[in-house]
Amino acid sequence: MRLRLGVNIDHVATIRNARGGQLPDPVRAAKLAAQAGADGITAHLREDRRHISDGDIDRLMAAIDIPLNLEMAATREMLDIALRHRPHAACIVPERREERTTEGGLDVAGARERLRPMVHALGEAGVRVSLFIEPDARQLDAARAIGAPVVELHTGAYCEAERAARARELARIETAAAHAGALGIECHAGHGLTFDTVGPIAAIPNVAELNIGHFLIGEAIFTGLDSAIRRMRALMDRARADALGERPA
Ligand code: PXP
Repeated sequence: MRLRLGVNIDHVATIRNARGGQLPDPVRAAKLAAQAGADGITAHLREDRRHISDGDIDRLMAAIDIPLNLEMAATREMLDIALRHRPHAACIVPERREERTTEGGLDVAGARERLRPMVHALGEAGVRVSLFIEPDARQLDAARAIGAPVVELHTGAYCEAERAARARELARIETAAAHAGALGIECHAGHGLTFDTVGPIAAIPNVAELNIGHFLIGEAIFTGLDSAIRRMRALMDRARADALGERPA
C-alpha cells in the first residue's frame, strides 16, 4: 500500500490571519494540494482559533474530495464539532494555549478514562480516530487499551535532534512503529518533517501516513506549493521503494 501524505494547511491560515480578511485561502491550498498528490488534508482547529477557523472547516468539508483529518484537543467543544462534521479522521492532540505548536504527544496512559469515551464516540460516528503520541510503548499500549485504531507518532524530537541523537530518536520511532504493528494499530507519523528528514521515516514499512505542514507552506514561498508537495511526495516514494527494494510507483 502506498504511503499516504496528509498536507497540513494550518499555516496558510496563519498568513491570512496576520492581516485579517480572506487571503491566502486555505481551501484553495487544500484543492491545490490534492492536485499535487496529497492523499488527505489535515487541519488543526485550535481552541484559540489562531489559524484554522470554524468557517474553514465548514468550507473544507464542502469543497474537497480527499479525506479531511481534523486535529483537535480532547475537549467537549471539539468533540461536538467533530461529531457535527464527521470528517474522515480526527487526530486527538494535546493543546496548551501558550505553545507555538503541538509540543510533545498526548499522555494517553495518564488520561485513559477521559479519552476512552471520546475515542468511542468518534468511532461510533464513523470517524477514524488517531492519537498523537510520543514513540513510547507505554503510550501505545494505552492507545490499544482504549480502542484507538490509529496512532500518529510525534517526529518532532527526531527532526530537531543533531546527528547521534537523531539516530537514537529514529530508532525510537522504528521500535514504536513495530510495536504498533504488533498491537494491530495503524501507524502514522508527523511533525517537523522536511525534505532532509522525511526519508528515514518514510522508509519505516508499517508507517501508513505522514502529516506534513509547516515546512511545505514555508517552501511554497520559494518554489510554490505544487512543487513543494510533489518533491515531498517523490522523496517519500523513493525512500519507501528503496526500503522495500522496489522501484517507486
Ligand atoms: N501531526 C500533528 C498531530 C500535528 O499537530 C502537526 C502540527 O500541527 C503536524 C502533524 C504537522 O507538523 P508540521 O506542521 O511541523 O509539519
